[in-house]
Formats: sequence, C-alpha cells, structure tokens
Amino acid sequence: MKTTFGVLGVVGSTRHGSYSAQALKIALEYAKKQGAEVQQIEAGLPLYEPNAQASEQVARAAEAVSWANAIILASPDYHGSMSGVLKNFLDHFYEEFAGKLFGYIVASHEKGLTVMDQMRTAVRQCYGWSMPYGVSVNGPQDFSGGDLTNPRISKRLEMMARDLVVYGRLINSQFVRDIGSADQDTFAARYRP
Ligand SMILES: Cc1cc2nc3c(=O)[nH]c(=O)nc-3n(C[C@H](O)[C@H](O)[C@H](O)COP(=O)(O)O)c2cc1C
Repeated sequence: MKTTFGVLGVVGSTRHGSYSAQALKIALEYAKKQGAEVQQIEAGLPLYEPNAQASEQVARAAEAVSWANAIILASPDYHGSMSGVLKNFLDHFYEEFAGKLFGYIVASHEKGLTVMDQMRTAVRQCYGWSMPYGVSVNGPQDFSGGDLTNPRISKRLEMMARDLVVYGRLINSQFVRDIGSADQDTFAARYRP
C-alpha cells in the first residue's frame, strides 16, 4: 500500500507570470515541508469530448490525478468564475476525485469567493472533499518583482498546505480503509473494484 502522501497542484492559468501559479508553487513547497510528495501540472487539456479517445496528454493528467491523495486547484478569477481551462480540466474527471481533499487558490482583485464556490461545487459533484477556506491573492498588491511580499498570504498558504496534508491524510486513509472493508454502509463502498 502507498504510504507517501501525494499533493497535486493544478495550474488553471495560461498567463506567463501567473499569480495563482506562483502562489500554488509556494503552497506546494509548504506541503513538501509537511512530508508530502508534490507534483504540479498545467490544466490545459484538449476540450473535453465524450466520444474522443483519451489522448496521451489526458492519460498523463489522469495518471497524476490518480497518483494524488490531495489536490490544490489554482485559478484566475475570470468574470467571477474559474478559468475555462480549469473547468475543462475538471470535466475530464469524475470518480478519480472521491476520497481526496481539495484546496483552493484564486488570483483575483475581489477575493475570488465566487470562483472558490464554483470549484467546490464541481469537486462536490465528484464526491471530492473541500477545505473550508481557500487563499486569495491580489497579484499587484501581494507580489513584487516575482516574489510574494505579503507575509499574511504566505502564512495562509502555509496553513492551507499544513491543513491539506493533515486532514487530507485522515480523509484519504479512511476512504482507502472503507474501500478495503466489506461494509456496505459507506459512500466508499461504490468505489470498490
Ligand atoms: C477575461 C478576464 C476576466 C477577469 N475577470 C475578473 C473578475 O471578474 N474579477 C477580478 O477580480 N479580476 C478579474 N480579472 C483579473 C484576473 O483575475 C487577474 O488578472 C488575475 O491575476 C489573473 O490570474 P493569473 O495571474 O493567475 O493569471 C479578469 C481577467 C481576465 C483576463
């Protein structure tokens, strides 16, 4: 059985110098300090097409999602919504999210709460678990010359990474135990092979 704890970060911005991607990178570094293994991927995948054969790119993303025990989604705030690229990424998956805890980062000028709500809704529909809070960065205010200069954001990213690893381990290990047991009265029962 896998004993390491894998945290996957998904970059939902295609913008060079993306603030959400920079914040995600910092959060993953903090997750590493909590003993997690980390991986970061770009959300950009071919437009989800139910009848299409999975491309190599989608297969690689699916491998990363399956590898992960917890996932951090990082999105820009586009019209109060998550980016289309990130939504399309999520559309490629469903059962893979069950039993995993998700954390959220948004780059926004307005806290990005509606963006986080949308990401939570999509994850909940796939029976993923969500952190009760997220981290919002306001790029021009919180970063300078490519560095995060707001210590409050740094603390929040550290706290989120810590909580994601600690609570994520509890949720994921119980999910794996429930799958391995014969108990029919758990939501994990339907994920048995
Ligand atoms: C098409 C578009 C729509 C946007 N809509 C909003 C918005 O509704 N609210 C907001 O605060 N910022 C909005 N922004 C600004 C971006 O959220 C902001 O530039 C953010 O830093 C982008 O994320 P990134 O740095 O990770 O690429 C919008 C930007 C674009 C390009």
